[in-house]
Amino acid sequence: MAQRPVVIVSNRGPVTFQVADSGDLVAKRGAGGLVSGIGPLVAGTDATWVAAAMSDGDRRASEQGVVEAEGFRVRSLAIDPDQYRMAYDVVCNATLWFLHHGLYDLARRPRFDTRFREAWQAYRDVNAAFAEVVADDAPDGAAVLVQDYHLALVGGILAQRRPDLRTVHFSHTPFANPDTWRVLPTDLGAELLEGMAGHHACGFHSRRWADAFAACCAEQLGRTPTTFVSALASDPDDIGAVAASPACATALDELDHLVGDRAFVVRVDRIELSKNILRGFAAYEDLLERYPQWRERVVFGAFVYPSREGLPEYLAYRQEVETVVRRINERWGTPGWEPIVLDPTDDFPRSVAALRRADVFLVNPIRDGLNLVASEGPLVNDRDALLLLSPEAGIWDSLGDVARAVHPYDVSGTADALADALAVGRAARADEGRALKARAGARRPADWLDEQLDAAG
Ligand code: G6P
Repeated sequence: MAQRPVVIVSNRGPVTFQVADSGDLVAKRGAGGLVSGIGPLVAGTDATWVAAAMSDGDRRASEQGVVEAEGFRVRSLAIDPDQYRMAYDVVCNATLWFLHHGLYDLARRPRFDTRFREAWQAYRDVNAAFAEVVADDAPDGAAVLVQDYHLALVGGILAQRRPDLRTVHFSHTPFANPDTWRVLPTDLGAELLEGMAGHHACGFHSRRWADAFAACCAEQLGRTPTTFVSALASDPDDIGAVAASPACATALDELDHLVGDRAFVVRVDRIELSKNILRGFAAYEDLLERYPQWRERVVFGAFVYPSREGLPEYLAYRQEVETVVRRINERWGTPGWEPIVLDPTDDFPRSVAALRRADVFLVNPIRDGLNLVASEGPLVNDRDALLLLSPEAGIWDSLGDVARAVHPYDVSGTADALADALAVGRAARADEGRALKARAGARRPADWLDEQLDAAG
């Protein structure tokens, strides 16, 4: 890796610890795109990875300073659970996430009251705690790579405490446009932008998000910080190894049995409002309604797993997903055919098996920082599957000319796009499928990491 020592800072770490019956700590690889993307590049190096303690095991590990586990040097940071919950649930996920993804129904929410201001203080304190650990432990002149909206204030604090460090902030989300950003009280919005601007550079997956951030800064700070654009990529070797695993082969057999000779539409997502799962089902139902030739001839596999259930919006969304699937299956299903197969288990080899078996991928988010599934699918697929992709995903920048556009709010347009894609026979789609696969593998996670280190200077 680079000449400078490297410190990675993120909310979710590369490893989580569990306390075994014996009382020993057992490490397990963490969840999430960041770990699967750059984990293999960082494992086995001298880089230190600082992350929030989320489990009891993590909190125990935090007492031991830097712990070596699964090839990582992990520094787990224990934070008071109430304070952490206010920062993570209230500020990060119910506010910043909603703003960046345009999820508010503004007639009702948000409301910035006294309770919110307390949560904002918790967010500041969590950021300060992270910055403190980095300031105490980072080697001289290290490159500190801060990941995502949970930790926007870290670079600003480090600039005071450790001017020798070179800090980068990387956003894995979109960035709100100025009109949306103005929803945040002015002092808080400016504080957050100042915090991000306190890093030596701010990175984004798409030029659109970098420009939106620059526009917010120009308006509220009167200056534009250094930005760069660098999209994360799927690791073909990493996901290829899962695709070649016995667990994936078993799951593929089960799916072959389930789908038979029908066409298979697949989506793999967290149960997340911005992923637009409900409109995807509405489009599928519209397909069954208006294109009767597909009744009993297609299965929609929705490999969607629960996420952020500390927030009522996510719980309600999950319930709605389950209700809609039940209703569509009851209305259209026949004795030998279940129109939608809903799998909420977060079984990664099974999801990869679905990506291998798919004929059509549906990736229709309302707004998405990148969306790695759109490239993972083509990388592992065995059948030259076609990709229906929302232009509102950051990955549209690199896949847009080899994918088929689906407008995220246009339900009947999405149904038509599904019908068009399903009508293309396997031989006829070979060129399109192969172009997708080639493009999906054109960039590597190492490119992304190198570009962050370049940005650190
Ligand atoms: C997005 C965010 C990540 C986050 C992931 C899962 O991809 O950009 O920072 O880790 O969602 O969400 P969670 O809140 O469960 O970490």
